[in-house]
Amino acid sequence: MENNRSSWGSNLGFLLAAIGSAVGLGNIWGFPYKMGKCGGFVFLIVYLLLAIFVGMIIMVSELAVGRKTKLSPIDAYKEVSKKFSWIGWLATIAPFFIMSFYTVLGGYCLQYIALNMTKLSFGNEAVAMTGGEIFGAMLTTPLGCVVFTILFIVICMVIVQGGVSGGIEKFNKIGMPALFVMLLIIIVRSLTLPNAVEGLKFMFVPGYAVKAGFIEAQPSLVSVLGTAGGQMFFSLSLAMGAILTYGSYLSKEENLVRNSVIIVASDTLIALMAGIAVIPAAVANGIAQGTPVGQIKLGGPNLLFVTLQDVFTNMGALGPLFGVIFYVLVLIAAISSAISLMETIAAHWIDKDLAKGETDTRQRNVLIVSLLILIEAVVVAADGLGSNFSPASLLGISAPPVFLDCFLDFMDCWSEGIAMPLGAMLMALMIGWEQSPDLVLDEVAHGDPSEGFKSFYKICVKFVVPIVMAFVLAGQMIDFFGSNQAIWYVVAVVLLVVFWVIAAMGKKKEA
Ligand code: PFF
Repeated sequence: MENNRSSWGSNLGFLLAAIGSAVGLGNIWGFPYKMGKCGGFVFLIVYLLLAIFVGMIIMVSELAVGRKTKLSPIDAYKEVSKKFSWIGWLATIAPFFIMSFYTVLGGYCLQYIALNMTKLSFGNEAVAMTGGEIFGAMLTTPLGCVVFTILFIVICMVIVQGGVSGGIEKFNKIGMPALFVMLLIIIVRSLTLPNAVEGLKFMFVPGYAVKAGFIEAQPSLVSVLGTAGGQMFFSLSLAMGAILTYGSYLSKEENLVRNSVIIVASDTLIALMAGIAVIPAAVANGIAQGTPVGQIKLGGPNLLFVTLQDVFTNMGALGPLFGVIFYVLVLIAAISSAISLMETIAAHWIDKDLAKGETDTRQRNVLIVSLLILIEAVVVAADGLGSNFSPASLLGISAPPVFLDCFLDFMDCWSEGIAMPLGAMLMALMIGWEQSPDLVLDEVAHGDPSEGFKSFYKICVKFVVPIVMAFVLAGQMIDFFGSNQAIWYVVAVVLLVVFWVIAAMGKKKEA
């Protein structure tokens, strides 16, 4: 079966694809405003520490398990552990749920490209509405959202049907450099706007977000840890099967540690660059429009689809051109991530067919996966972020917790909120305590890791990752289910202890 399995054309191709998976809406949208709201540099430092001590460890582990087993997540985890084989299911269901809304957001980008092209062709007055009015009108037009979501799914489907090196690698080899150049253009435009420096202060000066009135108080360190941890995992595409699946197509010669460092560093760099492109422009425009600094909207879907659209509209005749460049950039980022999610799900069935001796089933399997994604995505597209209907309204609940606000939050809750931190925690316990860190280190050895890295890896996978993941899990549950914080810390710690004991008791006997 191995002979017929797909593989990357080159290590550079793999790197660009993995960076493409990591660089997505999370970087361009989530990172900048979460950084500002969590106290600028404080968030950045916590984020970087988490990326080094937790993100790197999970990245190396996923790549190693993928390359060692040469299987997609469900079968890969089955091969590694009896007790924890179900992590593979978490790592396949989570991408499926994420696709339900990622494709809808991709559809929004398509609509905003079309909008700015219209303005470019017929003048800004062609669509004489504010960003808020445009966004509101789009959300309450379910048909348009559904059609553009389908278009986005079809684009991803065609790329993934093209194969690992013929489709995914090719797209990223062109898309990633293009994204980088477009980001530089937007950064230059953003930083040359008057008062752009206020936006840089929001991101980089500790305490400025509170002083300027963007937030009431500096969040506690524990809550920064939860936010930064959740953001880091989502941004690096960790614990959702994608990195494991991409690793399973990687040749034995490649150095997993060096590759992981490159992916983590590139993703963080692009997130920072995106912040510098987006936040100063939003703040500068708000000030120019006479909005008091602390009241400029920098969070949530509004940042990308309301605030920034206003920025481009107010830039005058060239504004729509920057609008097109920006939303194409976001679209490339969304596609390069969505195809990794689609591949992760489809790879399971492609592998199954290969095991039965059936080759060339990629086209069919990717088509079926795309249709399944389409069904769930239509619901998310139609609810318009809760403008038209929501889980809460269907259940007749007024004042609902966040996860019932709209179908996007509902799907996000199970994937990013629960499956991701739980999956990462379980993976670390499985490798560190039930199996042995050597499971990963022996595979990494093909790239010859230093003794220093081995000790670092062992300590992190056994202790640091499981404990940090319990915090991240609690943080995510507080965000989605709200109210009593103490309960969620207790739940997270109980889960940690229970699974730790299960892992340690099931320890493989040393030969
Ligand atoms: N990393 C992507 C982002 O930052 O938007 C999202 C993502 C892609 C998450 C792939 C998980 C995944 F497996």
